[in-house]
Parts: sequence; structure tokens; C-alpha cells
Amino acid sequence: MEFACKDFKVGKCEGEKLVDGETMPLVLQPPAAEKNDTDSLVAALKENKEWFEEMIIKNSAVLLRGFDVGKCEGEKLVDGETMPLVLQPPAAEKNDTDSLVAALKENKEWFEEMIIKNSAVLLRGFDVKNAVDFNEIVEAFGWDDIRYVGPAPRTHVYKRVWTANEGPLSEFIYYHHEMVLIKESPKKVILYCEIPPPEGGETPFVPSFRVTQRMLEEFPEVVEELDKKGLMYSFTALSKNDTSSMRGRGWEDTFATSDPKEAEKRASALGMDLEWLPNGGVKAVLGPRTLTRVFDGRKGRRMWFNTMVGMHGKEHSSATMADGTEIPIKFVKRGEEIIEEESIQFRWQKGDVLFLDNMALLHGRRPSLPPRKVLVTTCK
Ligand SMILES: [Fe+2]
Repeated sequence: MEFACKDFKVGKCEGEKLVDGETMPLVLQPPAAEKNDTDSLVAALKENKEWFEEMIIKNSAVLLRGFDVGKCEGEKLVDGETMPLVLQPPAAEKNDTDSLVAALKENKEWFEEMIIKNSAVLLRGFDVKNAVDFNEIVEAFGWDDIRYVGPAPRTHVYKRVWTANEGPLSEFIYYHHEMVLIKESPKKVILYCEIPPPEGGETPFVPSFRVTQRMLEEFPEVVEELDKKGLMYSFTALSKNDTSSMRGRGWEDTFATSDPKEAEKRASALGMDLEWLPNGGVKAVLGPRTLTRVFDGRKGRRMWFNTMVGMHGKEHSSATMADGTEIPIKFVKRGEEIIEEESIQFRWQKGDVLFLDNMALLHGRRPSLPPRKVLVTTCK
């Protein structure tokens, strides 16, 4: 095995077995006779925490969980966690959807823990053929569905499965937490690649807490001021759907009604006020919303849970402080640069299924050459 740790020596034990290329158990010994005391051991463990945890996962994933841990181009180590965690079939003949669904059902809690721990899990190398297979994978977990509300035009495909944004492939869909402005956002966004694009079309994602960390280093006062005051947003929606625009979802589809009074009621339940425009469209105003948020179970990380960069100063949208004060342009610009610098992406392969922790990651879509078919589902 590849072995890259100077603080341990690999040993052997009676009864160990080689399973699918991994020795179980992995025996670790002192690197030298005089380093066998508990203090040295604790120091070595502290020094190699991430590596040691990887070794446990590498072995337990194969032995107990029915997955092998893989790698993908573009993955990053963020605060000790590999993003995304790549899970592959434990053996070539176990790559069918039935085996995968069985392994997921068997290891539901563990898998969910991995999504929270690593923020993103990529299932790769499984023969996931279509929306029906994808739906079965999602249903293995029993998570509740959550209905999409937002500007993207989407089409229903099968049961819980929808097309991802059908706006023009030539446009960049800017980084966002899914449904960040709605009272209840999905906990998980799950994407499936049926047709990988020939060029571009990645789904980059960004560890949200890193953006807050870096913005706090550069603009501590503005971050705190915005978090205290909150943000007000506005956006306009057309009357009918227009798939020639990536934010072309009309208000009728957005609020699932063609009755303006009903739309107002539904908008208000989502925390928005509607103003009707002479062209039949509508302007939605919402806020105040926080700049950052901390969610349970995410190590107290302060997430960049807003859509300031995406909506500030645009033709169809705006973002200001809740008291009407303009947000400094420099602050918005640096936010945009930092988000891009912190982004992680891989090239889609046919059959890939990507689980994103929507509380922890922003995601987007890079411009793409056709064809590209990525399907999506969102869960509570
Ligand atoms: Fe999205």
C-alpha cells in the first residue's frame, strides 16, 4: 500500500487478511523502540489526525460499508476533509444500481454522516442508467422531498427527479445555496449526470464557511454590520416561463398558480412581498435576511448563507442593507473573488451522483458545450 506517514511503522498481525487490496486490520507500530510511550503516541496521532481518519475510512469503507474510497481530479482537502469524498463500488461486479441501493440502505446513517462531515460525496463508477435508477437511489434514504421555489426553469422528469436549470448552457449559473432566501431550504441537493458535457459544464461548489472566514479577515466590521442589520433583496419575474433565460421562470410557475391573489398569499408564506409590474411581471421584495448562519452539527462554522454577490446591482435584482444603506462595492467584489478562489470542481462522468450538504456548500454551473444532461432532486 502507499504509505506516507513517518510517525508510524506498518506491522503485521496473525489473522490479518488482504481484502480487495487493503490489509485488515492495518497494524501500526512505533517508528522506533524509544517512541513507544503514550505521550509519543498521542503526539503522533495529533500530528496525523486526518491521515489516521482516512486510514480508518479507507478500511472500514471497504470492509463494512460496501464502498471503496476513490479520488477525483480537482478534489481538495479543506480543514482536514476531502471534498468531495469519492465512493466507488467495492468490486467491479458490484457496480449495478441494485447493489448500490442495497449498500446505501444498509449504511444509511453512516452515509448521511459522511455528507455532513465531507460536505460533498460523489458516487462514481456505478452503472446508474437513467432518472428511474437515480430516483431509486434517492428513495433509498427516505428523506422528504422539498418543492423547488426559485427563478430557474425546470421540468419534471420522473417522481422526485427534475431537470437542473434549463437556462442556456452558455451562461454561468452563479454560486448559491439552494433556495437560500426561502424560509425552509433543502438540506441536501443531489445531482445525477446522465450526459456529461464534452467541455465545461462543471458543477463547482464552495465551502461556505471559508468565504465567511476570509471576508472576516479582510472586512470584519462590514461583515458584522451586515449580519446585524440584515440584507434586503428584490428580484423581478416575468409572467410566463422563458427558457431562453436562466432566470426565466415566470411567476405563475414559481408560485404554481396563475391567480395573482393566490400568488401573493404563497409569496407571503415564503416571506416575500409582491409588487405587480405593468408588463405582467412581478417584483418580489424580501428581507431582512442574515449574511451568515450557523447550523447544527456543522462544527459551529459560520456559513456565507446569502446571495449578495449573485443579486447585488443586477438588471433584474438588487441587494442592500436592510436599513437601505448601500453595500460597499469593494466588499461585493472581494466576496466574488474569494468565492471563485475557494471553489472545487471535477469533470462530470456518466452515472456520477453527487450529494451536496446545502447548509455547507454554495454551488453553481459553469458554461458548457452541448449536450449536457444533469438531473436534480432536493431533500429536507
Ligand atoms: Fe442550484
